[in-house]
Amino acid sequence: MQLIRTVESLRRALAGAGATAFVPTMGNLHAGHLALVRQGMQAGRPAVVSIFVNPLQFGAGEDYGRYPRTLEADCALLEAVGADIVFAPEAAEIYPEPQRFLVQPPLADELCGACRPGHFAGVCTVVLKLFNIVQPRVAVFGRKDYQQLFLIKAMVRQLNLPLEILEGETVRDDDGLALSSRNAYLSAAQRAEAPRLYAVLERLRQRIESGSGDLPALETAARAELEAHGWQVDYVSVRSRATLLPPAAEERTLVALGAARLGETRLIDNVEVMLPSSAL
Ligand code: PAJ
Repeated sequence: MQLIRTVESLRRALAGAGATAFVPTMGNLHAGHLALVRQGMQAGRPAVVSIFVNPLQFGAGEDYGRYPRTLEADCALLEAVGADIVFAPEAAEIYPEPQRFLVQPPLADELCGACRPGHFAGVCTVVLKLFNIVQPRVAVFGRKDYQQLFLIKAMVRQLNLPLEILEGETVRDDDGLALSSRNAYLSAAQRAEAPRLYAVLERLRQRIESGSGDLPALETAARAELEAHGWQVDYVSVRSRATLLPPAAEERTLVALGAARLGETRLIDNVEVMLPSSAL
């Protein structure tokens, strides 16, 4: 496995590498990231993993400075999985000159975008740059970050980018908590409370699927349950999987998304929902 720091040396290493699979990350890797790498490597594609904490997607007062940076441990994990190239550039390598957003994604002001202005423009900008640098055949993203995945698929379609996006299932701890680098910020008491976000979304799914129709009332109840246990809730929202907007009356393939904070730590999760036809 090669650890590469510059765009130029990456281009040299990739010349003749064939059709690669690319997994962009911000490092501090866990089993969710590694599952994406394994998924990309299926069909024998060489795997390129980027580790880059992208300043453009963090707002003022967010955790850019204290985001966990664990390059050595990350490389050991990637070596064990069989990744071929780790691309870990400095910020100045990706942003050698002042750069604002290249991409204004649709829905960037909805859901997480409403709480994190500029976040998704920052994500799409760096992902587009990384796609241009690596030029992969496929790129793998997790469903854990559902809105991010949705916006990246839209960017690939709308800009006719010549690659395929693969989707990885959310990897969870035994108690249901979705793995996330930010889980490391939780105190022991917060860690014990954290699985409630998934549990609340799962219950919301069950209620919708068993036909208890009133979505706004169910969303409000889910939010109230989190708040009663000390969460500050950004949103709990049931959306159309096709548009990520509030579902039209006839839509049945839905997703329940939630974002909420325990102390300073913001967690997100989601659960796909299939509305029974009898509920229409
Ligand atoms: P990061 O949070 O490091 O996540 C990298 C990839 O891992 C994303 O596609 C994310 O959805 C996926 N992932 C995270 N936790 C997961 C889990 N528990 N199960 C499955 N997949 C999981 O997302 C980013 O970095 C950045 O925004 C990035 C796309 C790299 C752009 O900077």
